[in-house]
Amino acid sequence: MKIVIIIPTYNERKNTREMISTLAEIIPLIPKHDVEVLYVDDSSPDGTALEVEKAMRLYPWLHLLGGSQKQGLGVAYARGMTYAMKKMHADWLMEFDADFQHPPRDIPRMIEQIDRGFDYIIASRYIPGGSIPGAWSFDRKFLSVVGNLVGRVGLLTLGVHDVTGGFKLSRVKGFMDQFDFSALYSKSFAYKVQLLHYMVQKGARVKELPFHFSPRTEGKSKIIKNEMQETIRVIFLIQLHNPATIKFFKFGVVGGFGFVINYLGLIYFNKTYSGLPFPIGVINFLANATAAEISIISNFIFNNLWTFSQDKISRVSQLISKFLAFNFSSVLGGILVPSLIIGLGTQVFGDRYRTLFLVLAVFGFTVPYNWFIYNKFIWQKKPRA
Ligand code: GDD
Ligand code: MN
Repeated sequence: MKIVIIIPTYNERKNTREMISTLAEIIPLIPKHDVEVLYVDDSSPDGTALEVEKAMRLYPWLHLLGGSQKQGLGVAYARGMTYAMKKMHADWLMEFDADFQHPPRDIPRMIEQIDRGFDYIIASRYIPGGSIPGAWSFDRKFLSVVGNLVGRVGLLTLGVHDVTGGFKLSRVKGFMDQFDFSALYSKSFAYKVQLLHYMVQKGARVKELPFHFSPRTEGKSKIIKNEMQETIRVIFLIQLHNPATIKFFKFGVVGGFGFVINYLGLIYFNKTYSGLPFPIGVINFLANATAAEISIISNFIFNNLWTFSQDKISRVSQLISKFLAFNFSSVLGGILVPSLIIGLGTQVFGDRYRTLFLVLAVFGFTVPYNWFIYNKFIWQKKPRA
């Protein structure tokens, strides 16, 4: 396997000679694979590229992609990865920093995982055995931990513990060779969360290995001040284009609409039935039931035509049986269980808390319950080419 370690640099001259000689000791430890190194330098004024060029006379595995202007880490990686795949025929791409914050000694451990069938190997600071620099200030630690947590939740990739780290190994075939670099949302460090989301959504088998993120000893960090906002912006764009998120959003709109219909229907039918010679209890029940049934029908129709249009039910026999199941499940999940939660809640804590228990029942139970039932039983995914 050809593995290309991509090292982007901007003003890293003080780290470069030592890094290359360290790599020269490490590469022979990986005889099973063909490991090469590609420096991607953005015309660093301190002469980083010269340092690489000098060493290239000694090491045939060392390459330099220079000559462009600094536009940010994402742009540098897009250039480096494309070059590694197209010109160097890489089977694997490693992202690696020039400044020794990623211990070069961990490279062989990462590469070992290739033979275990993984597609995406992540060096992780946030699993047991991994760490961030103890010498960092509280603020910096806080930002790192919280930023990473926001990333995990926002990307819906809770299974990955370190989503903002920069030390990774990605499979080219079937993964990185299908990534459209012109669609990168960020020129900056935030490209990382987009690649991670892409790999996970492509079904990459992920392995996280713990590592100690060392403090920088030479040179300065290039991370921009508003990197956190930039990352949040990228996550937002990712979700805006994420089919599952769009589907969930539509499901929410349809459900909200059903809720409103139910409410208006209740008022309307209460009035209508009150003209009939029934006791109040019966009127209430009839009004409730009619309003609920209308909202159930609306939910079914709009979800079928809009939210789950890709798995639309159209055969009449199926429509009938699915609608009956939908109806049953809606009565259970949208009426019976919430009534029980609200009833019990107000019994125990008092009527003042009615709204609280309503919100709790809807968002804590009905929404996740419906989402699950709709996806698993009503609109199962049809096999698609
Ligand atoms: N070519 C190029 N162009 N290289 C760049 C640029 C750029 O615009 N910006 C940064 N680099 C290089 C640096 O020279 C270094 O080799 C590497 O990218 C990482 O940059 P640092 O400036 O050292 O980043 P950091 O240490 O603050 O951030 C690290 O940790 C973050 C997570 O906490 C990196 O690993 C990030 O990727 C990671 O997200
Ligand atoms: Mn660094």
